[in-house]
Amino acid sequence: MRMRKALIAGNWKMYKTPEESVQFVREFLQQLTPRSEREVLICPPATSLGVLKPLLEKSPVHLGAQNVSPEDEGAFTGEISARMLKASGAEYVICGHSERRNIFGETDELVNRKVKQTLKYGLKPILCVGEKLEEREAGKTWTVIQKQLSAGLTGITREQAAEVVIAYEPVWAIGTGKNATPQVAEEVHQSIRNFLEERFGREIAETATILYGGSVKPENIDELMAEADIDGVLVGTASLTVPSFLRIVNYQSKSQAGR
Ligand code: PGA
Repeated sequence: MRMRKALIAGNWKMYKTPEESVQFVREFLQQLTPRSEREVLICPPATSLGVLKPLLEKSPVHLGAQNVSPEDEGAFTGEISARMLKASGAEYVICGHSERRNIFGETDELVNRKVKQTLKYGLKPILCVGEKLEEREAGKTWTVIQKQLSAGLTGITREQAAEVVIAYEPVWAIGTGKNATPQVAEEVHQSIRNFLEERFGREIAETATILYGGSVKPENIDELMAEADIDGVLVGTASLTVPSFLRIVNYQSKSQAGR
């Protein structure tokens, strides 16, 4: 039986000032019952990382960033480096979220540079992959995801691969209220695990954390987490209020993995 730790991650996108972030975290920590088999992660806007760091340092909740520059430092106006994120308390970095790819034109090549940059600074990348609705309807789901995985993980060693989290986020499910059914998600997650096995070997594949994202909410979390290859979730909208995110973190386990 596999015993992968669950990872429940909130992606706050461009919501919450530093003050609002602090208020959320104070309330959240008061009500959270820590469980060793579940890791909780919050990815606030970069402007909130610094104020949350001291609040979360001795807590079971981890901090992540939503984006990173592929460069070390220099004249790159508006960019934030991996070193800065790390110093501000981030342990994870979301790389290649579909909003970055589709609104800001990030290519697979750029996403790959960001994954490598994240690893270079000892942070854990969350590499996001996922198909658009028209790609799913054209039967191209796996072709698209395989390409994103293959390009996103170019040049990554087996040792580095152990630090990488993959998030399957079908674009048609993000912010639409329309989640992938647990079975549809599970099928893709299995294919991702097979891909990791072919690329990096069995041990990496079996220990890899593969998240599902796209309209995760209190109503569907229990059934999603019951799937064997869904190791956690990346939550947007439903991570923005304390009761909703708490309910997701406190999902009812039906999983054989005992998470
Ligand atoms: P959503 O966003 O939960 O609002 O669909 C998920 C994401 O973009 O990570």
